[in-house]
Amino acid sequence: MSIMSRTLAQADPEVSEIINNELERQQNTLMLIPSENYASRATMAVTGSVMTNKYTEGYPGKRYYNGCIYYDEMENLCIDRAKALFRAEHANVQPHTGSTANMAAYFAMLEPGDKILAMKLEHGGHLTHGHSVNFSGKLYDANFYGLSEDTDQLDYEEVRRRAHEVKPKLIVCGASAYPRTIDFRQFREIADEVGALLMADIAHVAGLVAAGVHPDPVPVCDVVTSTTHKTLRGPRSAFILSTKKWAREIDRAVFPGLQGGALMHVVAAKAVAFKEAQSLFFREYQRQIIRNGQALASSLLEEGFRLVTGGTDNHLMLVDLRNKDISGRDAANLMEEAGMVVNKNAIPGDPLPPAETSGIRPGTPGLTTRGMQEPEMQQIGKMIARVIHDGRSDQKVLAEVRAQVRELCEAFPIYEHLP
Ligand SMILES: Cc1ncc(COP(=O)(O)O)c(C=O)c1O
Repeated sequence: MSIMSRTLAQADPEVSEIINNELERQQNTLMLIPSENYASRATMAVTGSVMTNKYTEGYPGKRYYNGCIYYDEMENLCIDRAKALFRAEHANVQPHTGSTANMAAYFAMLEPGDKILAMKLEHGGHLTHGHSVNFSGKLYDANFYGLSEDTDQLDYEEVRRRAHEVKPKLIVCGASAYPRTIDFRQFREIADEVGALLMADIAHVAGLVAAGVHPDPVPVCDVVTSTTHKTLRGPRSAFILSTKKWAREIDRAVFPGLQGGALMHVVAAKAVAFKEAQSLFFREYQRQIIRNGQALASSLLEEGFRLVTGGTDNHLMLVDLRNKDISGRDAANLMEEAGMVVNKNAIPGDPLPPAETSGIRPGTPGLTTRGMQEPEMQQIGKMIARVIHDGRSDQKVLAEVRAQVRELCEAFPIYEHLP
């Protein structure tokens, strides 16, 4: 049998087995990581399609390789869908990941050594927002704003004060671990006061923004970057939106500035995801993500957990575990033993190092994709409480919660079509 016709199981049983095990893990655990989701069957089909075979350096109509007729059509379709979904003047759909999207945005707007002002990593920002271990902190003069010590929320007067003090060329807003709404208009006012450019990184809330259930950064920002695989529920990738004014610089920064050929099978999958996100179902899905977030938050509060900011407006919450005498790392490991997958996360002013942390960051996009609603969130809040309160000393508790997880997974299945 030729290599072209063998199935994966025939061609490579080892890889096939690992993937099957991963499918089973996803099917039989509750995924509470707010930066992950379950891509649709259509999205996954496209990432495994023949679109993976072609080099397409350049842009539609201006390629460095021949044979790109359908790739031009596909990339234009993807661009048009991204622009329509976010009502943006320009879209570049080639960035491989959120980090390269941010890098390209900086390359387009900044020179090395220029000042940026962004949210501190420890308060919810992202590594690519100027952290010293990241290219963004090494290439640029990175300055930070934090959250209010009283409310753990963004204090726009403090951002304003920092902006006037630093006089950055670029202000970055958007976050990885912030449970409240971000007011992009206030950032625009502040940027205008100090003559700065404004970029929003909406990697986390892109789905909420697309569905109109979170304020829209596009009308007030020069550039907006995002991933496609979190609330947006597309393939694991990213894109950049901008005003017409920045279109050329953004495109040149992505290619040839930063990347070679685009991953066209992923560009095609992004086109599918942008279409899915136009639907009424998707809007309702995003609303349910928020309702589920609030239901899970209230269940955790009832169980005596402290939430940073006291609750959530979006798809995630930050649980401060200091009153539970367990670190974020240990809590996340314990929860995994019971079949609930969550990530440890620093909380504002965290006394523990990043590898340990005092918090976890549960989110609802994945649970909502499974079709779960408020009653299941109430139940999951109680299951988390049982594991953290009693699971450390009692293996029986972990086994009982694991059985509840199984039942929920069976009642709300995913990827039933897969073998
Ligand atoms: C706000 C934000 N920006 C950028 C990224 C980076 O995305 P990627 O992991 O695709 O590079 C993330 C990832 O979690 C993020 O939360």
